[in-house]
Amino acid sequence: MSGMFITLEGPDGCGKSTQINPLADYLRSKGRMVFTTREPGGTEISDQVRQIIMAMKNTSMHPRTELLLFLSARAQLVEEVIRPRLAAGEVIISDRYADSTLAYQGYGHGVDLDVIRRLLDFATGGLKPDLTLLLDVNADEGLRRRQSCGGEWNRLDAYQLEFHRRVQVGYHKLAALEPERWVTIDASQPSEMVQLLIRQVVDDRVV
Ligand SMILES: Nc1ncnc2c1ncn2[C@@H]1O[C@H](COP(=O)(O)OP(=O)(O)O)[C@@H](O)[C@H]1O
Ligand SMILES: [Mg+2]
Repeated sequence: MSGMFITLEGPDGCGKSTQINPLADYLRSKGRMVFTTREPGGTEISDQVRQIIMAMKNTSMHPRTELLLFLSARAQLVEEVIRPRLAAGEVIISDRYADSTLAYQGYGHGVDLDVIRRLLDFATGGLKPDLTLLLDVNADEGLRRRQSCGGEWNRLDAYQLEFHRRVQVGYHKLAALEPERWVTIDASQPSEMVQLLIRQVVDDRVV
């Protein structure tokens, strides 16, 4: 069986963490070897970079600094984990990947998109997902969910709602640019329904 790289994208609170393990279990029940990871992080080095990115005290971090930190964490994850496992025929499911950089640092912060694309290509060695699921909820709902669940509240959550709206618009544009790779799922529905829709998409694509 050939490896397959699936990414989950969408604003904070859209349900990526909720959906990833049930999806992995489903694919395992179909006989696939599945590995899940999340960004930034997923290796010892990448997790150290994650601490820097998320630290509340790093309020003065420039968007370019933030961008390069995300890319350095990703470069390590790709080489140490994703490529070897894909080569071994596994299904990799990542909670966020390169499209998050385009959505957040590009559309959100206004860093030049073509510059980001070139840097992404360098950082990942050109590795793109086979399938990207956009869990689509509006930014207000996503933030409301995150606040009401009392989960970890990090520096990135503290940006204004306007920023999150730009991110959401960015995601829609990215999905429209590569419709063969992206599938948009209405994630405002109950999570069981979202999982059913995800499984339908994956049934069509993963053998
Ligand atoms: N479809 C859904 N409807 C309502 N609440 C949801 C749904 N999916 C997830 N949640 C809740 O919203 C919060 C954020 O979900 P989470 O999976 O952590 O999102 P993400 O990982 O994308 O930031 C959690 O409290 C979760 O239980
Ligand atoms: Mg999450």
